[in-house]
Amino acid sequence: MSMKQNRFPKRLFITGTDTGVGKTVISAILMAGLRGTYWKPVQCGLGEMTDTEWVRVKTGLPETNFHRETYRLKLPISPHASAAQEGAHIDLDDFRIPETKESEHLIVEGAGGIMVPLNERHFMLDLMKKLNIPVFLVMSSSLGTINHTLLSLEQLRMHGLDVDYVVMNGPKNSSNREAIEYYGKVCVLAEIEPLPFINPKILAQSFKQYFEHAQ
Ligand SMILES: Nc1ncnc2c1ncn2[C@@H]1O[C@H](COP(=O)(O)OP(=O)(O)O)[C@@H](O)[C@H]1O
Ligand SMILES: [Mg+2]
Repeated sequence: MSMKQNRFPKRLFITGTDTGVGKTVISAILMAGLRGTYWKPVQCGLGEMTDTEWVRVKTGLPETNFHRETYRLKLPISPHASAAQEGAHIDLDDFRIPETKESEHLIVEGAGGIMVPLNERHFMLDLMKKLNIPVFLVMSSSLGTINHTLLSLEQLRMHGLDVDYVVMNGPKNSSNREAIEYYGKVCVLAEIEPLPFINPKILAQSFKQYFEHAQ
């Protein structure tokens, strides 16, 4: 590992402006490049592939690079509702940052966006505050993203969470990027364009292409 790679924070919380914006794909790119460990604290939906399985299969990294989810809920709906459906209750006290080796990166992927409820009084935001690790916000490049992104940035800041990284995912849209940088007072670290295939090689190449300059 080069010295450069040590500059990415040891721990990153990958959140998004919405569900389906590319948190898992970006997590896989980071995992392929940093060869760290991955943790999805709350998984809703066990039907097809969980996010943990997807990142494992697509990166080809060994199972030992993956921590077990704290909550594995069956229905692919909001965590508060998915838990309620099976008579469970999400308790913030149950979440502990997994132990990692000194040199190892930890990629934590949230569920949905910031204001997704976990129970009757806590949101994903509260879990982020509790874990207190650098925040990496994934947003879409398409129409609607300015509103979603500015709202997310404002809410995070209002709660004292600095957003360390902001990345745009989807077909390049420089007008949206510029608006988000100007109104959101952030620097967009990378604009990730749709990947033709997703395999370990392409993920590692994408890390080089999009994140090496951040190192
Ligand atoms: N840059 C990309 N290239 C190719 N497919 C992508 C890209 N970003 C997202 N996708 C696809 O879009 C869908 C949603 O992305 P995903 O990473 O699962 O979002 P999230 O984790 O935020 O819910 C998935 O099918 C994923 O493979
Ligand atoms: Mg995901």
